[in-house]
Amino acid sequence: MAPIDDPHQHSSEENSPAAVPEPRPRSGANFIRVATLEELQTKGCVAVKGAGRPIAVFHHDGRVHAVDNRCPHMGFPLHKGTVKDGILTCHWHHARFDLASGCTFDLFADDVPAYAIEVRDGTLWVSAHPRRANEARYRQQRLHNGMEQGIALVIAKAVIGMLRSKVGSQDIVRQALLFGARYRDGWSSGMTILMTMANLVPWLREEEIYLALYQGVTRVADDCQDEVPRRENHPLDTNELDFATLKRWFRYRTQVRHRDAAERTLLTAIARRFPPRSSLTRLRWPTYRLITVAASIEECTPGFHDLRGETRVPLGRSLC
Ligand code: FES
Repeated sequence: MAPIDDPHQHSSEENSPAAVPEPRPRSGANFIRVATLEELQTKGCVAVKGAGRPIAVFHHDGRVHAVDNRCPHMGFPLHKGTVKDGILTCHWHHARFDLASGCTFDLFADDVPAYAIEVRDGTLWVSAHPRRANEARYRQQRLHNGMEQGIALVIAKAVIGMLRSKVGSQDIVRQALLFGARYRDGWSSGMTILMTMANLVPWLREEEIYLALYQGVTRVADDCQDEVPRRENHPLDTNELDFATLKRWFRYRTQVRHRDAAERTLLTAIARRFPPRSSLTRLRWPTYRLITVAASIEECTPGFHDLRGETRVPLGRSLC
């Protein structure tokens, strides 16, 4: 937020451009009164109730900032933290945040949501809702980060956040499967557990779905730690092969567990758009990668499905 001038000399309309909070919030009922600027200057920080979550408003270095008052790591009240040189430090595990944006420097903690502030006649008003525009996308990124770093707490919070943001459990499973297919060169027990959890979801109560997904996703993440990423494979460079030949080759290669050959055969079939009129021909990259991982390993083929939802093709069977 921009510097705040003397409250007695300027109203919000009279402030110079440098003194007006950026981005300028919309006035209205969604703003909550915080304090006078003078009071905030004296106290340094004021905590208020937002829409369902507390907000901490700081006066620091001639500027006013507002963030969620709960540390995104484990909930310590941030108004009890320390602000120095524009950085807010939580006193519990010392996660640090850029006070202006709420973004963290310590990836074990999430970014803390920041709030818009408005100054009206020397009084500060804070938006009841955080600035973060796309919560679902943010949580998806956090799920990736959590799996990459192998931090269960980050994964748990990302899964909860995604479900609350109306991301479907199928999309969460899909994201985790793609991660597992990319960052481990081969199948793992975690992928099997995740698929089992995904199949359980329709029979679970709403409050249990998170636990099932969390278990599956963390197992996949664990299996990817310190693993070699999946190596690329490509279709055979030919248009000569017909569907019957590819089907025969694929079946044989999976029987003898020659994974690379089975994968290359399957990629060739997909590139040739075989088999005609099959949902297999509509698959794009990374879904084929899931198929090839699964289909080339015999034990996984029967239970592995296209998670886009509408087709639910038993993977590999189109060619087996
Ligand atoms: S609760 Fe803030 S860093 Fe852990």
